[in-house]
Amino acid sequence: MSASDPKVSHDAPMAEMLSLARHAMARAYAPYSQFPVGAVLRGAGGRLYAGCNVENAAYPQGCCAEASAISAMVMDGERRIAAALVMGNGAATIAPCGGCRQRLREFASDAMPIYLCGPEGLRCKTTLGELLPLAFGPENLAVPGDKP
Ligand code: THU
Repeated sequence: MSASDPKVSHDAPMAEMLSLARHAMARAYAPYSQFPVGAVLRGAGGRLYAGCNVENAAYPQGCCAEASAISAMVMDGERRIAAALVMGNGAATIAPCGGCRQRLREFASDAMPIYLCGPEGLRCKTTLGELLPLAFGPENLAVPGDKP
């Protein structure tokens, strides 16, 4: 990845995660919902991965911002999420949808912090375990290698 790649960054203070999320929101393709979302993941190695939602005229084929960020992370060779941030507009604070909670769980523990944000900044901090209690995950299938 080049240093100028907006999907990948090398250090991870909150200000940088917020900046990447705003940039991701600006890149969102959301002509149907008009609801741009930005997601930023911090990998266990410290790098940051951003994603935006990408909608489709065949609505179910749309992709959430979190899924886009996970793809960028996996493409970079990272397999563990240390922290996640999601950002959306509106008075109601955005949180990852149910499907994305499960997607995040594939690469993160219950303790993984999730920062729920508006464009102005952090609104709420939670954890994956709070958003997806009693989760089914890779450990249930006892897959060797990538441990939560
Ligand atoms: N969306 C996300 O990208 N992430 C979420 O966790 C919630 C919803 C997107 C999907 C769709 O493009 C738009 O927000 C409205 O649902």
